[in-house]
Amino acid sequence: MPYAARGKRCAARISRALGAWAFLVRLRFHASSTCHAKPLANARFGTNRPARDFAARREFVSGPPDRDEVEPVMADEWVETGPGFWNIRGSLKIAGLFEVGTQMSVVRLSSGRFALLDSYTPEPATRRRLLELTDGGDAIECILNLHPFHTLHVTKLVELFPSAKLYGTDRHTTLFPHLPWEETRTDRAALTELFRDDLKFSVPQGVDFIPEKPRRHFASVLAFHPASGTLHVDDTLTWMQVPLVGGLRFHPSLPDVLQQRPGAVREFRGWLHELRALFADVKTLCPAHMKTPPPNDGQLQRRLDAAIDRIGKVLDRHERNYGS
Ligand SMILES: [Fe+2]
Repeated sequence: MPYAARGKRCAARISRALGAWAFLVRLRFHASSTCHAKPLANARFGTNRPARDFAARREFVSGPPDRDEVEPVMADEWVETGPGFWNIRGSLKIAGLFEVGTQMSVVRLSSGRFALLDSYTPEPATRRRLLELTDGGDAIECILNLHPFHTLHVTKLVELFPSAKLYGTDRHTTLFPHLPWEETRTDRAALTELFRDDLKFSVPQGVDFIPEKPRRHFASVLAFHPASGTLHVDDTLTWMQVPLVGGLRFHPSLPDVLQQRPGAVREFRGWLHELRALFADVKTLCPAHMKTPPPNDGQLQRRLDAAIDRIGKVLDRHERNYGS
């Protein structure tokens, strides 16, 4: 090829490359000059989630953002289940990747003050809503940590609401001995007496409440709020809205936490009996994980019965092995 023709082709390539670069620069300038920080962050990541997560973490460290800064989209779901009960369905990612969800509930007590069930670090929009509801947090009477292995957000929630009375299980108090724990533990009968006007608690019997292996998430304190008909339950009952393997189920670690002694299954069955009676008044179920709770279609009792049927063989086998 003659030198002149080669030169022309080379010049054309350079011209095309410069044109593409100029187009990208204009596009970026347009985004940053018309949409402020959030769309720019979104354009960079392709979604608003990383920008929001970053903003949530930063706010927790350094206070709320200025109005002109990133205004996060609310991804926590705030569900009012009935009079005086709100369930916050928050985000929890395994290894930072897999969204499994987590929850915290807000209960208005008959005193007019509020109780938080479980601990979750609300993202900024949720936090603002919670502060509005609770007179800037001053009306939060207490935080009740109901699952011995749900501990990730305990310290942060105490930092947010330092004047709230703090309750937990023995595992919470052992893990965070520097926090100002109340003497009453959430899995003890004394808690029932403290909250008898507003909440009913139910603790599985015949199982290890705090087993040695943390993966055995079965046991937790179930909290029922009669005024709204809402049952807040952590991993003891799980919900997945998928065919065949989904539905309402007891946590799969049940065989590992049933106590290896005569009478354990009898006690567990006694607790199941109590739970069935409690379910007669349950209108809404709030399980810990998965964003979507079971539908309020009047089928909760039937779903519980199916869940009990599914563990029948586990209980029978355990009884044969360790005595009734
Ligand atoms: Fe869990």
